[in-house]
Order: sequence, then structure tokens, then C-alpha cells
Amino acid sequence: MNLKELIYEIDKISPGNRDLTVNETVFHNANGYIGVRSNFEEGYPEGYDTIRGSYINGFYDIAEMSQAEKLYGLVEEKQTMLNVADTQTILLYVEGEIFSMFEGTVLSSKRWLDMEKGVSGRSIHWRSPSGKEIEITITRMTSFYQLSLFTIEYKVKALNFKGQIRFESYHNGKVDNYSNENDPRVAKESGQYLIPGQFKVEEGASYLTSHTSKSGLSVCTGVAHRLSKEYEAVITHNEENHYVVSNIEMCLEQKEEISLIKYTIFSDSIRHPSVEDHAMEELEKALSHPISYYYEAQKEYLLEFWSNCMLFIEGDDDLNEAVNYNMYQLIQSVGKDEYCNITAKGLSGEGYEGHYFWDTEMYIEPFFNLTEPDITKNLISFRYNTLKQARENARLLGHTKGALYPWRTIMGVECSGYFPSGTAGYHINGDIAYSIISYYLATKDLNFIANKGAEIIFETARLWMDVGNYRDGTFRINEVTGPDEYTCMVNNNYYTNVSAQYNLRWAFKFYNLLEAAGQLQAAARIGITEKEVNEFKLAADAMYLPYDSELGINPQDDSFLDKKLWDLENTPKENFPLLLHYHPLHLYRHQVCKQADTVLAHFIFEDAQSLEVIRNSFSYYEKVTTHDSSLSTCIFSIMASKLGLEEKAYDYFGDSAKLDLFNTHKNTKDGIHTANMGGNYMAIVYGFAGLRIKESGLYFAPAIPKQWEGYKFQIRYEDSLIRVEVDSNKSAFTMVRGTKKTVHVYGEEYMLVDEFTVMCKHLAAYLV
Ligand code: BGC
Repeated sequence: MNLKELIYEIDKISPGNRDLTVNETVFHNANGYIGVRSNFEEGYPEGYDTIRGSYINGFYDIAEMSQAEKLYGLVEEKQTMLNVADTQTILLYVEGEIFSMFEGTVLSSKRWLDMEKGVSGRSIHWRSPSGKEIEITITRMTSFYQLSLFTIEYKVKALNFKGQIRFESYHNGKVDNYSNENDPRVAKESGQYLIPGQFKVEEGASYLTSHTSKSGLSVCTGVAHRLSKEYEAVITHNEENHYVVSNIEMCLEQKEEISLIKYTIFSDSIRHPSVEDHAMEELEKALSHPISYYYEAQKEYLLEFWSNCMLFIEGDDDLNEAVNYNMYQLIQSVGKDEYCNITAKGLSGEGYEGHYFWDTEMYIEPFFNLTEPDITKNLISFRYNTLKQARENARLLGHTKGALYPWRTIMGVECSGYFPSGTAGYHINGDIAYSIISYYLATKDLNFIANKGAEIIFETARLWMDVGNYRDGTFRINEVTGPDEYTCMVNNNYYTNVSAQYNLRWAFKFYNLLEAAGQLQAAARIGITEKEVNEFKLAADAMYLPYDSELGINPQDDSFLDKKLWDLENTPKENFPLLLHYHPLHLYRHQVCKQADTVLAHFIFEDAQSLEVIRNSFSYYEKVTTHDSSLSTCIFSIMASKLGLEEKAYDYFGDSAKLDLFNTHKNTKDGIHTANMGGNYMAIVYGFAGLRIKESGLYFAPAIPKQWEGYKFQIRYEDSLIRVEVDSNKSAFTMVRGTKKTVHVYGEEYMLVDEFTVMCKHLAAYLV
């Protein structure tokens, strides 16, 4: 069995079967630049539930976001990712009868995704109403090798007849975005964002250009076809409605198979000054190679990806497949240049409108730090490129210095309409700083810090100095929202304060490191002085971190424990997620958490508290957390591992692993949950294996769920590639390449030169 192949039999297609929209997401193709949902080429019957979409990472228009009351500084416009031209549609006529999954007889049907080859597809055996049988195999690819390219290879075999086959292939530039006015997780309204522009049909190819209504951007798609045998093609077009149809007709012998290849190129004006010229060049390039060349290049790209991030669970094929699926989605979703980032839903759907959140820094970059750190560098560079807007945002919010990153954005401006669980999430600054520090700890790439990272760290540190204030000798941060969005606008959110503390401390540290290295150019650029960084350090040392001596926990914020407890046990199942059923104020007045907040803080800043406080806090927050956010169970799994709660760690891990494959949050139709996918990886590497990367080196405390025979993975660290293999008796550490490293396992120090093995300790015993 190829564990990197996901196959779903889909023989029960009936109207109203929701799995179709979920499958459109689950089997979508993306390469970080473009994403295409896995819609049926032939479409669905009228009125059928489907979200047909193709997206470009970072390509957006501006939509109005009217505020009922016009208070100063409230956001009244947002950036929204656009659905661009549809080139998926291909109708197939068999001797005049149209192929449809809803007519004739579907004798067998499956969808598949091959994560080693980087393609997905459908295989169908169909009998037409008049009895003609065909076999269809459709293979789709968004190329990692040529990012602008999307291909559909459509094969048809005549099984019991000889006759005429006709393809009607569409290139449609007039498309809308998806909306749902009752779900705050997708856009409320859909507008006509793309205005049809140039229209060119030339040498069998079509080029449709559209311009956004407000953001001043353009997009061009170029489409061409190739067929494995002689054919007649007639191209018709409708310029007014901005679409082109290629009619491709040929005769098939019985048992003969033909193959149509449809090439689509996407080009956008964020990256290319002339989108039409660029699309033409890219299409010419694509057509100059046979499709097999691109399939080979795709495989090679993924071979390298999988060898960098090899992760394998022995004894549980389902979970192994799920975790590998999640990692695959991360490489599909993550931007490959500085003009974009990674959206909360990847490029698989329109949930959260293609916005970038703190998800990137806290859940996704840890994966890339350990597997492909150059990608983290791109993601941080994106934040660096939007520092100017973050400074402007800070001024709008009344801060006289520093930069405040937007809670959600595409090109750097704040796009959250509801500020209590949006703009007030100041921890985004600490998260971005944390991710830069993590990148540094994993790579020791001080040059990058000198050129880009340090400026962000200094500017975010400055902001904490401006937002916070001293009281009774402690430094406090008031009126902010932490990660838990069911508790908004509070004083001294533990997570926020501890991440601000880390940010301030590292601003001081980097200043000194860079001074010693003679690389203080960033500080000079923005006027950071030794005096200022000394003030950062004083504030960090004086940071107030809420602690309740009676419960022995860190309260989530100053008022959290004053509130009444939400009766989770007696809340009807259908009322989850609570955000769709209760007024925000009602939620805010209760002790109820949407997601890990203090528990997350205890994971990433574990040295800030004793193990006892961490343990007490975990069991306290476990009782009041709904995990209504997909960013939660992975963190609970990691912390359960740390505390030796193996069963819980395993259960939380399983919930996180299967979230999209099993649509457990019931909104996978709007897109995958990329943060959870990164968190799911972390639940193995940071959770079960207990990895921590500190200034003093690498730390592990491996444990293994009793359901597994073993697991192994590889991580990059500085100049090395290290393999970790764990079974129920021992953990083996191997230096695959690189120079020797200090590694701590269960607190003991080892020197990793080639390999060493440590007998397993029961984690709970080790912790006592
Ligand atoms: C979570 C946020 C997250 C966002 C995007 C929300 O439901 O509460 O923490 O950033 O989804 O994934």
C-alpha cells in the first residue's frame, strides 16, 4: 500500500450529499501560488451545493465593510481574496449524450490524491442512458515546478462502442466569490469584483484579462489544449460575457483511449507588470514540454520535500496517512515568494477570505523551520515588507511609536471588522517576534536577523512599551484580547504578557548580539539606542504575569476567575460552536474558552512557570475549553504529552489529525485548516517526542502512544539533518548529515556525532 495515496470511493452521489463540497476542498490542487478546488469538470445539476473556485495567493480586491456606528479608526474596507477565472469546466459528449454523474449509470467511481506524484484525480466507469460505456481518468496538477501552471489531463476510453466523442472546454472569466450571510467565518456578501478587460484568442489559445474593481490589480489566464490524436477544433467566444469555448471532436474506435490535456496559466499584476505578455510567455513554455516532463518535475520536487520532512507512524496507517496529508497541504498552501503568505484555509476555499493570521507564525512556521527554513524566511520577509503598514496601523490605534501588525490581512492592512476579537489581538506582535526568534534558534542565521528580523523585533518591542504601563513596579498590558476569542478586551492576558516579555527580552539580546557582530544597521535605521533596549529589558523583567495562589494556576487574565463557569456539560451538542449560537457578550461574561490560550503560553514559554503550575493550569483550562477553534486540540495534545498524560495526548492528537479528512468541524467545505495541520505535526515532534529548541541546544523527552509500534521523523537544525526514531523501548538519534550537536534527552546531555540510543523512560515517571 502506498501510504501517500489517498483514495475515496464515491459511489453514492445523490443531490444533497454534502460530501461533495467537502471533497472539493479535500482533493483541491495548489502549489502556494495558485489553488483550484476539485470541482467536477462537467459541473452539477442546477441548484446543487458547490463552490467552484480558483485562487491566486495574495490576489485581492477591496470590499466595503460598513460599520453601523462610525467610530474613529474602525475598519471600513477589507481586502478579500478573489475567485479568478474558471478553467475547470470540460463537458464530454458521447455520441451526443452528455456525461454526468447524475444521469446514466455510474458503475464505479473514485477520487484520489497521490502525494508523492503531486496530482489528484477521478476515475469513473460510466454507462450512458443508451448503454454506451466509457472509462474516464482525469488527472489534475498545479505545478510546483512552474507555479503559474494548472493542468487537467482528461482521458476517455470507449469500452463497448465505436463513435463520436466531443469535448466542450470552457474558459470563463466572469466568476463570483462565495458568500454566506449567516456564517461569520466566510464573506457576508459577494460582489462583482472582477471587471472584464482584454480578450484574445490566438493560435488555438485564449487569454482573458480582468481588472479588480478597486485594488488596481489585473489577472490574466491563458488556456490551450493538446490532444493525443488528430481532431477538429472550433473555438467560439462570447466577448461580452467574457468566455471562450473550445469544441474538440474526434472519432474513437472500440477500446481506444484518447487524452485531452488542458493547460491553464495564471498571471497577476502584483508580480508581473504585463499580465497578458507574461501569460503568453508562460503558456509557450508549458507547451514546449510534454506533460510527462511536468509530472516528472513534480515528483522530484516532492521527493525532496518528503525526504526533508520524513515522518512515519508505525502501527497506525490511518493516522500516518492523516498526518502526511496534513503536511502535504502545508507545502501546497504556503506562498513561495515574498508577495504572499499562507492563508488560514490555504488556497482551497474562501473561508476567512484568504486572510493571513497569527496561524502562520505560531502553527505553520514551526513546521517549516524544521523542514524547509527558507520558506520561513519568505514568510518573515512578507511581514518585513508590510512593516510600513504595521507602523501606520499603530498610529491609527493611538500609539506614538512602534508597529502593530494587523490581526488579519492580505497585503498588510487590518481587515478585521469586529475589533474585540480582531484588532485587539495585540499578541500578533508577540507571535511574529516569537517566530523570528524561533527561526534564529533553529538556524542561527544572524545575517537574516540583521537585515530583516531585528527591525521587526525592535518595532514590536517599542509597541509594547507604548501600550503597557508600570503600576506598583510591575509592567502591565491592558485592554487586549488573547488567543481565546471567547474572552475579549481584558487586562493582563497571560499569553499576551508573556509573549511581550519574550519579545522585549530578545530585542535587548539581539541588539547586543548584533552589536558584537558589527551588524547594527537595523537599529541605526530606526534610531534604536542602547538606552532604549535597556528599557525593554527592565519592562520585560517587571512584566506582570497573573498567578492565583489558591488554585496554583495562571489565570487567563485579571478578571477571568471572577466570571461564572459556563455549563458545558448541559449545553446541547447542536449549540457548538458556541460562536454561532450565543451573543458575544454572553460568552465574554463566562469562563469558557474557544481555544488554547494559557495552555499555549505554557507550551511556548515553558520556562516561565514551574511544572506544577503548568499541570494545574492544564487541568483547569481543559474543563472550560470547547475547542471550537481548530487551533486548540493540537496544543492540548502537546501539553498532555509534556505532562505524561498519554491517553489524552493521543486522543487530542487524533482529533487534530482527522479534522479535515473527516470534516469534524463541519466547515471543511470552506477550506482546509492550515494552522491545525501545522499544529498536528507539532503534536508529534514537540508533543510525543518532546522537542524544544532553546539557546542551549536541542531537548527531547520521547514518549510513544501505546497504540503505536513506533514513529520516526527528520528535522533540520542549524547545518544538520537529524533523524529521530522512537519505539516502545528506546529512542535512536542519528546525524544524517552535518556537524556534531549537543542534544538533551530526558534532561541528560549527549553529543550527537553519528548516532546514539537512549532507553525509553516513562514520561510521567521522568517528570516526577
Ligand atoms: C481562531 C483564530 C484563528 C482564526 C483563523 C479563529 O477561529 O479563533 O485563532 O486565527 O480562526 O484560523
